[in-house]
Amino acid sequence: MNVNGMPMRTIWPAADGCAVDIIDQTALPHQYRVLRLGSLEDTAHAIRSMQVRGAPLIGVTAAYGVALAMAQRADDAALLAAAETLAATRPTAVNLRWALARMHTFLAPLPLSARADAAWLEAARIADEDVEQCRLIGQHGLQRLRSSIGTSGRLELMTHCNAGWLATVDHGTALAPVYAAFDEGIDVHVWVSETRPRNQGLLTAWELAQHGVPHTVIADNAAGLLLARGGIDAVIVGADRIAANGDVANKIGTYLKALAAREAAVPFYVAAPRSTIDFACPDGASIPIEERAADELRVVQGCDAAGAPAILRQLSADEAVANPAFDVTTAALVGALISERGSCPASRAGLLALYPEEEEHG
Ligand code: MRU
Repeated sequence: MNVNGMPMRTIWPAADGCAVDIIDQTALPHQYRVLRLGSLEDTAHAIRSMQVRGAPLIGVTAAYGVALAMAQRADDAALLAAAETLAATRPTAVNLRWALARMHTFLAPLPLSARADAAWLEAARIADEDVEQCRLIGQHGLQRLRSSIGTSGRLELMTHCNAGWLATVDHGTALAPVYAAFDEGIDVHVWVSETRPRNQGLLTAWELAQHGVPHTVIADNAAGLLLARGGIDAVIVGADRIAANGDVANKIGTYLKALAAREAAVPFYVAAPRSTIDFACPDGASIPIEERAADELRVVQGCDAAGAPAILRQLSADEAVANPAFDVTTAALVGALISERGSCPASRAGLLALYPEEEEHG
């Protein structure tokens, strides 16, 4: 997608072939900054600190992290240590573990001398596949959304968090159908919830603005009113992990939107690629929920009156704070799952109809 009119991805190999460059998402939307990651530790830090974020992008960054580790030392112990370091960064988005497992399966049988180059190529393949899968999610999602377009010809959507191209390598998941609709000339407008405490909604607003898609930012707490009032045709969000029964873990606050959407009879869709589906995880209750630092609530980040980056403490350091980063939306609240293979009911049968090769998980 575009930044200032220039096509960009969120992660790409640096010109010297010894590092990857990323868009630093901790600086957005106030500042556009590119960072270079040259080591395993750099990639682990980027994931942990959310310089890169969003389930698919975390997975791709982890794959490059393994490649950077292999460039230093390619023996089995180094491969295992790299996977352990990266797996410990964030627990909920299964794409991270999916990418690490794929890198391990691919690299382990290779001679040590071949591993560094092969790891680099495999990480690039994972990145390219993510782009293509998200493009397809856009096409399938648009098919779904067409039925929600009212007689006015306008499509009013609501989303939560950032499941756009910034959360993937390109196109996004929940926003891919939005871009597909917009590019096709459909009159689409997106209600973007702020997504406290990390404000990923501001990233969504930034990337929609870069593409010229009309949108309106709302406080998280305004979503219920807007849905109840009517005028929203569908809610579409991404996912960090979809359990085998169709339960969905996504950014904290997603569940409340799904409940409000159900009450208002507004369809609630979840868009995600195969790498987000965890067939080994039976249900939402089995998904680990990340608890993040209390200061994410206590301290607000933004700009001062002069436009310089600034932080503002809104709670003292001794104030008790809980900061669960994700919640689980039960499958019954999900109107459809949309993946690169099409859309399906949020159920074990629905998922297996799209991915029959996963039947073995019982
Ligand atoms: O904590 P984050 O910003 O990594 O969480 C991201 C989300 O919850 C997204 O909605 C999800 O990863 C889907 S991204 C395509």
